Amino acid sequence: MMEFAALVKQRRSIRHYIDRPVSHDLIEQICEAGRWAPSALNMQPWEFVVVTDPEVKRQLGSNAGVMGVKWPHISSAPVVIVICARKTSRFARDDCLLAAQNMMLQAADLGLGTCYIGGFSGERVRQLLQIPSGYTVPTIITVGHPHGQPPVPQKRPLSELLHQDTFEGRGVGLTGYRRALSMLGRLLTERRNKP
Ligand SMILES: Cc1cc2nc3c(=O)[nH]c(=O)nc-3n(C[C@H](O)[C@H](O)[C@H](O)COP(=O)(O)O)c2cc1C
Repeated sequence: MMEFAALVKQRRSIRHYIDRPVSHDLIEQICEAGRWAPSALNMQPWEFVVVTDPEVKRQLGSNAGVMGVKWPHISSAPVVIVICARKTSRFARDDCLLAAQNMMLQAADLGLGTCYIGGFSGERVRQLLQIPSGYTVPTIITVGHPHGQPPVPQKRPLSELLHQDTFEGRGVGLTGYRRALSMLGRLLTERRNKP
């Protein structure tokens, strides 16, 4: 089990998986983490459809996508979890996205890779999986044993996005020294990334 702060930083969107099934026990642990997410009025509007059938995954992969961009990792991942939201409140989607984050962190802690898929037509996926009309599909998560670890994408530094009291306020709780260090880090990153 990883320390939480390290886990949060180590989780990556994994789009390549090795050809090894993910055990039912691991999938259950991932879904278990999902069900402990907070939800508006504790409605828990989520349903998790676990897809492992190669043909259903293939169809999902060829149906999911936006503006001609398809996600090959939907068909190549050993497991795809389709998260459905019962239309109980206007927060049902938010609830499901929080469940998704719990699930991705749990998967990372188990040494598994995941990728959040937001670019698809929920309606087409709903029809394909025969999801009843009272539900939407906020997201799909691919799950599998990672094939390699992608490079860490650039993340905006805290010093750039932290505000104190008003949007104009800067540097919550950072001592002058730490602020100077983080500023230096930012300048070095900017210089390194200059074309
Ligand atoms: C709302 C949302 C939608 C996303 N949609 C897709 C998607 O459709 N396909 C995909 O491959 N990755 C998708 N991603 C993953 C992002 O590309 C990824 O989180 C981002 O590049 C940062 O990389 P990291 O997750 O490794 O930190 C999505 C992420 C979020 C939060």
